[in-house]
Amino acid sequence: MHSDTRFIWRHKDLLDVDQLNRQELFHLLDLAASFQEINTRPVKKVPTLKGKSVILFFAEASTRTKTSFDIAGKRLSADTFGLAASGSSIQKGETLKDTVLTLQAMNPDVIVLRHCSSGAPHFVAERVRCSVINAGDGWHAHPTQALLDCYSLRRIWGDAFAGKTLLILGDAAHSRVARSNVLLLSSLGVKVRLCAPRTLLPSAVANWPVEVFSDLNQAVRDVDAVMALRLQLERQQAGLLPDLREYARRYCLGLHHLQLARPGAHALHPGPVNRGLEIADDLVDDPLSLILDQVSAGVAVRMALLYLLATRNDAHTDTGERA
Ligand code: CP
Repeated sequence: MHSDTRFIWRHKDLLDVDQLNRQELFHLLDLAASFQEINTRPVKKVPTLKGKSVILFFAEASTRTKTSFDIAGKRLSADTFGLAASGSSIQKGETLKDTVLTLQAMNPDVIVLRHCSSGAPHFVAERVRCSVINAGDGWHAHPTQALLDCYSLRRIWGDAFAGKTLLILGDAAHSRVARSNVLLLSSLGVKVRLCAPRTLLPSAVANWPVEVFSDLNQAVRDVDAVMALRLQLERQQAGLLPDLREYARRYCLGLHHLQLARPGAHALHPGPVNRGLEIADDLVDDPLSLILDQVSAGVAVRMALLYLLATRNDAHTDTGERA
């Protein structure tokens, strides 16, 4: 896979996947594939983003997204700076607007923002000159998760997305991951199924390009991959799920479910995983699980994205300089 180094990236920010056309998406995925090799070297560092500054502003908890953006930036020699709501002046009452104007005054090239409010990255992107990457906003979007999921699926499926069937299982109502994945994968011709109890389906599901199921054994039949979602208990109102054991009995994805799917079907999960609730131990630890491949893909995809955004105004470098 070779990305075109003459490709001009036109986006200042990445706020959701629907910004990207097919050419931009595959350019980003190809670039990520070329960066993936750096992650396997004994010395995992190239000078590509030397002199660039990336602020990781995570106002909500994260392990995978924050760490992988940090590693991605550092492997490209960018300087990365972490800021959490806890321990920042947000605790003294500073508003989001004043916080990001303060950060902008320090001239970063990119702000990576995770926030509990849907739309917060859009609000910030309108107010700062630097690039803004949405690292997950409320229930709304998680574009880099969808991009890394697409990267992981491409490693299994190749470029033949059209006609494949993906089942997204579980708490779609509260899942920014589900929304971004439905947008991205359906735009590539993937047939998307959702399976969840009625209370965990998005209220506007009738407008989503998906087929809805309530029975997992039916939903999983003949699919090419299954993406189990985390049950987002922290975002749920009381009463949506009266009994977690009953939920696990009906919706916990196990290795036996994949036997009903197409041969070679894999399981994905964005993490963090509630073992035994959304996905069973036997599947999490089986080679048919892509969960840790997704984490590795996250570093490569975020390297590609930081590269594209942080260098978009620079005279363009060639492959030799990147590697
Ligand atoms: N998938 C995901 O966003 O994980 P984190 O919350 O750990 O970043």
